[in-house]
Amino acid sequence: MTKPRVLSGIQPTAGSFHVGNYLGALRQWVAMQDTHDTFYTVVDLHALTVAPEPAEVRERTLSSFAQLIAIGIDPLKSTLFVQSHVREHSELMWMLACITGFGEASRMTQFKDKSAKQEAASVGLFTYPILQAADILLYQADEVPVGEDQRQHLELTRDLAGRFNSRYGQTFTVPKPHIVKDTAKIVDLQEPTAKMSKSLPSGCVFLLEPLKTIEKKIKSAVTDSETVIAFDPENKPGVSNLLTMQSAFTGTSVEELVVSYEGQMYGALKKNVAEIVVAFAEPFQNRVNELLNDKAELHRLMKVGADRATEVAAATTVNAQERMGLIPR
Ligand code: TRP
Repeated sequence: MTKPRVLSGIQPTAGSFHVGNYLGALRQWVAMQDTHDTFYTVVDLHALTVAPEPAEVRERTLSSFAQLIAIGIDPLKSTLFVQSHVREHSELMWMLACITGFGEASRMTQFKDKSAKQEAASVGLFTYPILQAADILLYQADEVPVGEDQRQHLELTRDLAGRFNSRYGQTFTVPKPHIVKDTAKIVDLQEPTAKMSKSLPSGCVFLLEPLKTIEKKIKSAVTDSETVIAFDPENKPGVSNLLTMQSAFTGTSVEELVVSYEGQMYGALKKNVAEIVVAFAEPFQNRVNELLNDKAELHRLMKVGADRATEVAAATTVNAQERMGLIPR
C-alpha cells in the first residue's frame, strides 16, 4: 500500500511561528509524516506578493525552514523544500493561469480582503491562488492539510485540475482538502474573540521570543470576572483558550483538566500553561539556533529537499507541457 501523498505550504512572512500556527496546523504536519508521503514547502514566492524587504525575505525563509525542522519535520521522512528552488512552480502556474477565468480568480475572497488593506495590490497577489494550485498539482497530492481560510483556494485548485484533465487528458490528481477538525483553535490572549495572529502581537505567543516574554504574556492573559475554571468558549473564551492550549500541548483532555483544577483559581491555570509552553519553546529555540548557526548544513538540507521535489515536479510539468502542445526542451 502506498501512502497517500500530502502537500502543504507555509509563508515565511513572520520572524517566528506562534502557538496558534503550531497547535492549529504544524503539529498536524508532524503527525502526518507517519501516515502519509509528506511534501512541505516554505512558499517564499507567495511571500513576494506584498513586496517585503529582500533581507527580510531571506532571513525569514531560512528561519522558517529551520523552525519546521525544529518542530519535528524530519527532512529524511518528508520532502521539505523552499518553493523558489523548484522552478516548475512558476512554470506550471503560468499554464494554469491560462485556463483560469478572470472572473473566477476575481471571486477569491482572500484577495478581496488583502487588497482592501493595501494601497496598491499587485498582480501577484491576484494570481496567488493559481500559484498555490501549481504547488499542489505538481506533486499529485491526494490531500492538502489547510485551515478553513484556505477552503476556497482548494476549491479553485480542484476546479483547475478537473478542467485541465478533461480538456487535455488525465494529468493531475484532484486533491482533497484535509481541513483538520480536531486541531486546537487558539485565540488571542488579550482579545480572546480574535484568532491568535501575528498582526496582534501583544496577545500572540511567538515560539522564538524570549522565554520570559512568553511567560509574561501567558500570565497576563485576559480571563473573566468569575473564579471557576470551566470550559465554555462562548462565555469564558480566555479561560477556555488556556485549557485548550494545555490540553493540546499535553494530550490530557479538557474534561480531565477541568476536573483537576477544581477548587483552584485562574492563577494556577496560567502558571501551568506558561510552564508547559516554555518547556516546549526552550528546546525548540535551541534547535533553531543550532541550525541557523550552521548555514552549510541548512543549505545542504534545502538542496536535498529541492532535489527530491524537483524529480516529481519536473515529471508533472513535462507531461502538462506536452498535453498543452508545448514542445518540451
Ligand atoms: N496560502 C497558504 C496560506 O496562506 C499557503 C500555501 C501556499 C499553501 N501554497 C500552498 C498551503 C499549498 C497549502 C498548499 O496558508
